[in-house]
Amino acid sequence: MPDFVKAVGAREVPPGSVRVAEIDGRRIAICNVDGEYYAVDDVCTHDGGPLGSGRLCDSQIECPRHGARFDVRSGRAVVLPAVLPIRTYAVEVSGGDVMVSLGGGRDV
Ligand code: FES
Repeated sequence: MPDFVKAVGAREVPPGSVRVAEIDGRRIAICNVDGEYYAVDDVCTHDGGPLGSGRLCDSQIECPRHGARFDVRSGRAVVLPAVLPIRTYAVEVSGGDVMVSLGGGRDV
């Protein structure tokens, strides 16, 4: 059973937006896609760009450095120059908070 910890308040991440939270020293980008929350690493696999500072376009987050895009639901790289996926994490909403499990995600 994965341990979930609070990342952000759900109201801090309205639909179509991203907030970055630090959990256990790891920067996690929390994304709201039409009311569904997803958590991914804040680090682009192309060259370390800060994904959480990028735009969220539907379910894709765009790296602000060179424009790579990743699907936040799967972590898959969908637009070059990134080819490797980003890690995703299990998310649940409880008591108005977005909770993330670093142990319950999918290593890619
Ligand atoms: S660092 Fe993200 S696209 Fe280059």
